[in-house]
Amino acid sequence: MEDAQGGLIADSSPQAIVSARTFTPVTAKFLLENWARLQEVSAPVFEIKARVDDDFYVGPADLADLQALSESGDRQNYVVPTHWLAPNKSAQVSLGWDRDPFFVRWRALLEMMPEERVKNFRQKRLEFETKIREERDPVARAKLIAAVTETAFLVNKACMSLEKTRLDQVDHDLVHETILVIQSVLSTIEESQLASSLLLTLRSLSTGQTVDHVVRVFATASAFLLYLRKLHSNHLVARMRSTFAQVYKPYYRRLLPRVSDGALTADNLVRLRGISMDEVREFSLGILLHDLGKTMDLAYFEGPQAYDAARVRQHVLLGSGLFLRTYGQKYEAARYIIGDHHNYLFHPDGYGLTRWDRSRGGGAAKKPECCVGATLEGFQSGETLTFLPIEVCAVVDVYDALTDPYRTYQKARDPQGAVGLMTEEFVAQGKMDPVIFDLFVGFLKAMGIDLPQLGFEERQASRTPWN
Ligand SMILES: [Fe+2]
Ligand SMILES: [Fe+2]
Repeated sequence: MEDAQGGLIADSSPQAIVSARTFTPVTAKFLLENWARLQEVSAPVFEIKARVDDDFYVGPADLADLQALSESGDRQNYVVPTHWLAPNKSAQVSLGWDRDPFFVRWRALLEMMPEERVKNFRQKRLEFETKIREERDPVARAKLIAAVTETAFLVNKACMSLEKTRLDQVDHDLVHETILVIQSVLSTIEESQLASSLLLTLRSLSTGQTVDHVVRVFATASAFLLYLRKLHSNHLVARMRSTFAQVYKPYYRRLLPRVSDGALTADNLVRLRGISMDEVREFSLGILLHDLGKTMDLAYFEGPQAYDAARVRQHVLLGSGLFLRTYGQKYEAARYIIGDHHNYLFHPDGYGLTRWDRSRGGGAAKKPECCVGATLEGFQSGETLTFLPIEVCAVVDVYDALTDPYRTYQKARDPQGAVGLMTEEFVAQGKMDPVIFDLFVGFLKAMGIDLPQLGFEERQASRTPWN
């Protein structure tokens, strides 16, 4: 009884946002008359929960509810894709949503009760753990990782709602299963040989733009965090100290002009410390869910005109809010990764949760004196411009967006073009930390990507200043 009640409560809340530019409202009566045809082509059909400007907040449409409503069903409470209604049948075929495996899976998830989704998720994790133990082929292993990561992201997205007032067993199970998936994937990535073939293979897999990006950023950033962990135990800090004044200090003098010359030291400006595996797990959780607040249909259904800056900016606030409702305050670093992965060291082009909080609460408690902090508290107080995992997510996120072959609003760059653009448009402009960026370039090279750009090791060895 309680389960069913919990399910109904969670299920009545909106679970996706679709655009009025691509979906058209219809009545229950219309849907019933056309139900078989819609089902035949797996057309996405949703019940409208609310309309805000150009967006419909929707949940799955249920046939039983429709039948109950059909007598009085003259109100347009449902939406179907506008293309489906178009008289030109060929438009439906060319749109392709009826065959796209991603949309079919996403729709199937929305149609399940929340407890079914989590049960299904647990099964997928157990299958993954069995298969990955037996599978030796690196490409097949990468595919298994991509599939289970995609499931983790989609189930989280499907189960979360801002309207939740209390957490139930399904939420606890969701959090637990997500952490277990992250743990399993991290231990698979840790086998160093896999990381490079994993990253290369992920480039060639595609199940839909948002999810591809999420899977790649999660795998790349997790592998990068594990790489940093290894470097740290390999005297990273000592090596940086020896060349810091020559290589990086002029950069930080410009970035933090109020900091006195004596305080512009390696130890003070980039506070790298050992990261525990528990921390890597929490950081990876935030990275997996970093774009939780992005709508699923935006890039999927729309062309280049779909890139709407204001809508895109909202995703960090929506995502961190959704995360807080389900995960609570136990994983604050993860919440801040979601909320601040576009903060870009407080450059005017950046945006996010901390700025939004500060604009409502009178600003930061402290003046910045460090670029990359070792703790979340330092970032929250204003003492540091960023926090290591937030910066890791930001760097990997931008790199992936620039090299993503499926973005509708821009042409993909090759790795060389992407790091070149990041150097000029992000690091040189004071939007990204140069040490973390150099470490990332070094990581890409270690993963077998051929780049002329100096990585951390080379910059140290050649003592080439950042300018
Ligand atoms: Fe984002
Ligand atoms: Fe992203």
